[in-house]
Amino acid sequence: MIVWDDSYSVNHAELDGQHKKWLEMINELLARLEKNGGDCPDISHETLTAMLQYARQHFMGEEKYMREIGYPETVAHIRSHNEFYGQVSSRLLAAEGGRRVPAADLLRFMRGWLLEHILDEDKKFSLHAARGV
Ligand SMILES: [Fe+2]
Repeated sequence: MIVWDDSYSVNHAELDGQHKKWLEMINELLARLEKNGGDCPDISHETLTAMLQYARQHFMGEEKYMREIGYPETVAHIRSHNEFYGQVSSRLLAAEGGRRVPAADLLRFMRGWLLEHILDEDKKFSLHAARGV
């Protein structure tokens, strides 16, 4: 279980709050799945889709902020968000089409991506904002 701590902060209360909430939601769903041996009927396709929608809303807020601070790598960062969105939504579509896409795998992917993205990419716009350029 990976828990949010200050090392993940991007020095923006609202974005930090969203990162924290998103990570907590993923952890909570994963814990329930693992406790039930991978079977937890209320972690449905709809739940996973709702989580992806949460990610989408969060990305939009982050992208707005990057534009506001004139972050020069905004376009590349948006591409990274879109790649994530595309990867997860295509897996959800595959599940809708009857292919086996275990929720635990999808949630682990989301959590790994989120943590790596915060530390590698989000930290960069945070540093840009801190420099005030
Ligand atoms: Fe981001």
